[in-house]
Amino acid sequence: MEAINASIGFDKRMAEQDIEGSRAHAAMLAACGIITSKDADAIEKGLLTILSEIERGEFPFSVALEDIHMNIESRLTDLIGEPAGRLHTARSRNDQVATDFKLWVRDQFDACITALDALMHAFLGQAEAGVNVVMPGFTHLQVAQPVTWGHHMLAYVEMFARDKSRMIDARARMNTSPLGAAALAGTSFPIDRDMTSKALGFDRPAANSLDAVSDRDFALDFLSAASICATHLSRMAEELVIWSSAQFKFVTISDRFSTGSSIMPQKKNPDAAELIRAKVGRINGSLIALLTIMKGLPLAYSKDMQEDKEQVFDAADSLMLALAAMTGMVQDMRPNEPELRAAAATGFSTATDLADWLVRALDMPFRNAHHVTGALVKMAEDQGCDLHELTLAQMQTVENAITDAVFEVLGVDNSVASRTSFGGTAPQNVTRQIKHWQKELS
Ligand code: ARG
Repeated sequence: MEAINASIGFDKRMAEQDIEGSRAHAAMLAACGIITSKDADAIEKGLLTILSEIERGEFPFSVALEDIHMNIESRLTDLIGEPAGRLHTARSRNDQVATDFKLWVRDQFDACITALDALMHAFLGQAEAGVNVVMPGFTHLQVAQPVTWGHHMLAYVEMFARDKSRMIDARARMNTSPLGAAALAGTSFPIDRDMTSKALGFDRPAANSLDAVSDRDFALDFLSAASICATHLSRMAEELVIWSSAQFKFVTISDRFSTGSSIMPQKKNPDAAELIRAKVGRINGSLIALLTIMKGLPLAYSKDMQEDKEQVFDAADSLMLALAAMTGMVQDMRPNEPELRAAAATGFSTATDLADWLVRALDMPFRNAHHVTGALVKMAEDQGCDLHELTLAQMQTVENAITDAVFEVLGVDNSVASRTSFGGTAPQNVTRQIKHWQKELS
């Protein structure tokens, strides 16, 4: 029973939150005349002693005492005697654990938001340095159209900004205090839930005691925001793995975030990127695990809910680690400009520019222009050259009206410079967006 029942092995991570909650509760009990201020003072002093014991690593955690709540209460009894027994008046472990866990998850939201800011700053730095750096844009991992490095970096800023806003939304939604809901039905003592709510930094007390003790939406919100964020991280991680390969050579990853092979001396492996890519597996797994734990649970508290913490702890640790590693990798990575530029020009990447030119210069319907461009691409392919390497005479055998002005649009710099539509890759757009994000993040 002890083995299956105890949660102290993991919920000791909420010790600080448990003490914070108990201090607020004791102060409120005294303010409402439910316990004496003498007892409240003794409780406060005892809890502070316990806090420093925990910080010094000297607290005697006991599996027999099941969880962090009973461990701390029992230690408080050792330290101050009888008044310790009054702390649990008008409270239950059910509202206590919901409160502790909310405080813990709220801290994680804040930490993630800060970490996301740092990551976005790293991408912004790359974008600034690479406003004019041309690289291939891909669809289906086939070269599609030239884009700028700055634009590609800002795509990730957009993603992580959405992650941040998801965290901010969820944090605002969760910020109600369960404390005082007691076991499930509230209490007959004249407590002041507004007082504890305020002391713990909540916006207001949770309005329904049954919901307050059985709600784990805040944990699910955290895991779902974390899963989406980890998904974004995995996409960048995958790009780093591809880009740093000998076949691509688009970027150099710093030695800080790669390892050598134990047998192949020439290898430099992007281990950190691969691990970031893999973390999404654990984080998504945690989300599905907790959704499944909560599914079909009748109101109010059931012990099933004790299984919530390990999922969230593991996901939070994994996400924080992945965010930190990605931030370092993005700061350090060096784009290989000549390789990127050369790759940008391969695969007839300016074929769309050619078709657009036919529409603009010759007033051709786009569908016809698409057809003519297809024929020119075929011609270049047959000759083993690129579009801009065809002669004007050759082009004119396909479409007589083509002039040598066409060559202007076949270069990758002209291609990206022309994409000035809102949200497009042109350097002038990228510069504007960088300014926008710098202001947004300052
Ligand atoms: N260790 C428990 C948990 O994490 C605390 C709440 C226990 N409540 C109870 N009625 N047994 O959920």
